[in-house]
Amino acid sequence: MVWFFNALSVQAVTRFMWRVQLHKINYDEREYQAVKEVLDSGWLTISQKTHDFEAAFADFLGCDTKCLAVSSGTAALHMALLALGIKAGDEVITPALTFIADQNVTQMVGAENVLADITSMEDWSIDPDDIEVRITVKTKAVMIVHYAGYACDMERIAAVCKRRSLLLVEDCAHTPGADYSPCKEGASSKENDRQPLGTFGDVAAFSFFCNKNIAVGEGGMVVTRNNELFAKLKGLRSHGMSVPSFDRYKGRAASYDVELPGLNYRIHEISSALGLVQLQKLEDANNKRKKLVEHYYRRLDDVPSVSIPYRNFSRGKPNYHIMPVLLSDSVDRAAVIESMKQDGVQTSIHYPAIQGFSAYKNKVNGTPKAEHVCAHELTLPLYPGMTDEEVDIVCDALVKGIEKCE
Ligand SMILES: Cc1ncc(COP(=O)(O)O)c(C=O)c1O
Repeated sequence: MVWFFNALSVQAVTRFMWRVQLHKINYDEREYQAVKEVLDSGWLTISQKTHDFEAAFADFLGCDTKCLAVSSGTAALHMALLALGIKAGDEVITPALTFIADQNVTQMVGAENVLADITSMEDWSIDPDDIEVRITVKTKAVMIVHYAGYACDMERIAAVCKRRSLLLVEDCAHTPGADYSPCKEGASSKENDRQPLGTFGDVAAFSFFCNKNIAVGEGGMVVTRNNELFAKLKGLRSHGMSVPSFDRYKGRAASYDVELPGLNYRIHEISSALGLVQLQKLEDANNKRKKLVEHYYRRLDDVPSVSIPYRNFSRGKPNYHIMPVLLSDSVDRAAVIESMKQDGVQTSIHYPAIQGFSAYKNKVNGTPKAEHVCAHELTLPLYPGMTDEEVDIVCDALVKGIEKCE
């Protein structure tokens, strides 16, 4: 079976002619075996693999977390806001530099999102001081994103939320394997001070989309330490039903009650099987990402017109989800992207400015630092199977592109 998928991916690469793709899945025989086991079981939605994935994820995060596997990271975020009772008339503070899912789910529950700026050109995480400035009587929650797998300043954000009685949602789409450690002046971060990302918020939402550090195609995990919230989330995942369909399939129950209105945000059993394998491979994969990022540093530190965010990061262990760089104002980013494409290097942007989208064109931003990053950020390829030689190809193409387009 592996040869078949390898042939497919070779075909895909040939068709698009990338010498270096933005990301590649980190799969081997173990994933194929896991999928086969599900197919052989004859049951494709939530059952043993999902229960095992949830248990393994809770064990991995620790801190008494309860985990529920769902159909996507967006589903997890939507469920988080619903379970927390966020509704029309409420405001949720969200980062100005993030994937649009954060704004979309806020709108979908009828609330308004209020954007907060990033901290600086080195630290692209939401600014705790700016969160405080944006609080009004309508503010009910703060949603943060640990951009690129680098922890936000959790000590200060948790303190603001506590002081102002606000709920906290962590968008952990970028974070599996990353942790937070308080950055004390003059002291190095200690291993025993570390706390995994996803264990700070009232609810946290993970994504297992195909470009994530745990990649299953489509999938997510919603996480909480609160039993009452967990019960609500469980209901929301599957029509508020009291009995899962697997129990009916097994003849353990003939019917069910609907205890609260809910949705169908169930995960596919194949996604859970893939997630279990990917979780086992995560530490090794993140270490490989780290080494590649260090090679990027060696190649790009002295390149004029390029700066690297989080270069001297000290708030814990990142998971190096993506490799963002900031181009100087004099560089024509679109021309660099095109030049790199001509050299066979795929790039991306994390993220376009929110008010650049038609649905949000009237959104008042007032977040100049995030707007600057949105206009000048470029994401370079990064994935565990990448080689140093491929990093060199990317850096050569970047330097060439800048020289042509400055
Ligand atoms: C920061 C962030 N939040 C939320 C999501 C949504 O996750 P999903 O694609 O699994 O719905 C993503 C996915 O790209 C993301 O990067």
